[in-house]
Amino acid sequence: MSEPHVRLVNITKRFGNTVAVDNVTLDVARGSFTTLLGPSGCGKTTTLRMIAGFHDPDAGDIFIGERRVNEVPSHRRNTAMVFQEYALFPHMSVFENVAYGLTIRGLPKPQVAQKVRATLKFLALEGLDDRSPHQLSGGQQQRVALARALVMEPEVLLLDEPLSNLDAKLRVSVRTEMTQIQRSLKLTTIYVTHDQEEALAMSDAIAVMHQGRVVRFGTPWEVYYRPRDRFVADFVGLVNFVEGRLVEVSPQVLVADVAGRSLRFAPEGLALRPGDGVLLSIRPECIGISLAAPTGAANVLHGQVAVSQFLGRLVRYWVAVDASTWVVDEPDPSTYSLLSGEVYLTIEPGKVHVIAAENKDKDEGGR
Ligand SMILES: Nc1ncnc2c1ncn2[C@@H]1O[C@H](COP(=O)(O)OP(=O)(O)OP(=O)(O)O)[C@@H](O)[C@H]1O
Ligand SMILES: [Mg+2]
Repeated sequence: MSEPHVRLVNITKRFGNTVAVDNVTLDVARGSFTTLLGPSGCGKTTTLRMIAGFHDPDAGDIFIGERRVNEVPSHRRNTAMVFQEYALFPHMSVFENVAYGLTIRGLPKPQVAQKVRATLKFLALEGLDDRSPHQLSGGQQQRVALARALVMEPEVLLLDEPLSNLDAKLRVSVRTEMTQIQRSLKLTTIYVTHDQEEALAMSDAIAVMHQGRVVRFGTPWEVYYRPRDRFVADFVGLVNFVEGRLVEVSPQVLVADVAGRSLRFAPEGLALRPGDGVLLSIRPECIGISLAAPTGAANVLHGQVAVSQFLGRLVRYWVAVDASTWVVDEPDPSTYSLLSGEVYLTIEPGKVHVIAAENKDKDEGGR
């Protein structure tokens, strides 16, 4: 990854007895789209506000580039923040809203006009200059809020759940637009959301937060397919958790006993020994499902369809195998009729991930 642009070093913020942000350390790469993802109340907004200079940390350091900014006031940090509720001035036109920050900065009128027009054009808001915010759609209001931030030519763009007021379809189109804008400007962006799909779709890197801490930091792929604890695995998508005990360990293959069945999977570099307990995660889309018994597959489970749901782009099955239930997603259901009754599940060894291991003679997990 490239050089860090924004660095948080052991940042803590308390409100009375609440520890909103608990010893967070995070490097945001220059030019990256980095997302803080986590459930309500986990400290995302508080972290963003500390970077913007709206809250002072109780402990720790914040750097933007080489500069430690803890004592630098908000308006001197060269950051711009877009708030969840847009906070557009209702009595001002689109043009005036976007011009506002530059005008108070004291920029001459002709220059303000030129920069505002260029930004409105860039965000496809031309022709809407004279409208007031209530004459705009949600998506347009959102773009005006973004224009207001971008026109300031910030070094770092901070976005707090900017899409949450939009309907589901608009969210998807605006998020694609936003990603394109960010990529074309190569503008270091820190984005806050509790929506895991949004985070996976938009980000170069995701910091998953839980109870004030960053519990996982990585690419979307790493966060989704290589979670390191139950919370992250569960929060970023649907998952099958499987507990087992290792019966075979070799450089090529691991074999776990899972409720009397053998499950084979690929080693991922963890130091493991026979007898260790393992917690495994397998995503629903990583499991094959068929009526006929597959031949030559490493892991085959035989079960009964308990529930099936047609979700448009996929069919989701809940399959009972002995005492456990597996969630399986079958993509592209247009070519199938829904399966029912007895089925076979196939799991490729490379799609099984060890979340945590419990060593025989150690109590702690294998992180
Ligand atoms: N000004 C404040 N005074 C007191 N407590 C606060 C204040 N701001 C935030 N908190 C508390 O700090 C914790 C973290 O809040 P924060 O707003 O950072 O969460 P969040 O992750 O942004 O959540 P959401 O997804 O709901 O916006 C919460 O327990 C919240 O109640
Ligand atoms: Mg928030």
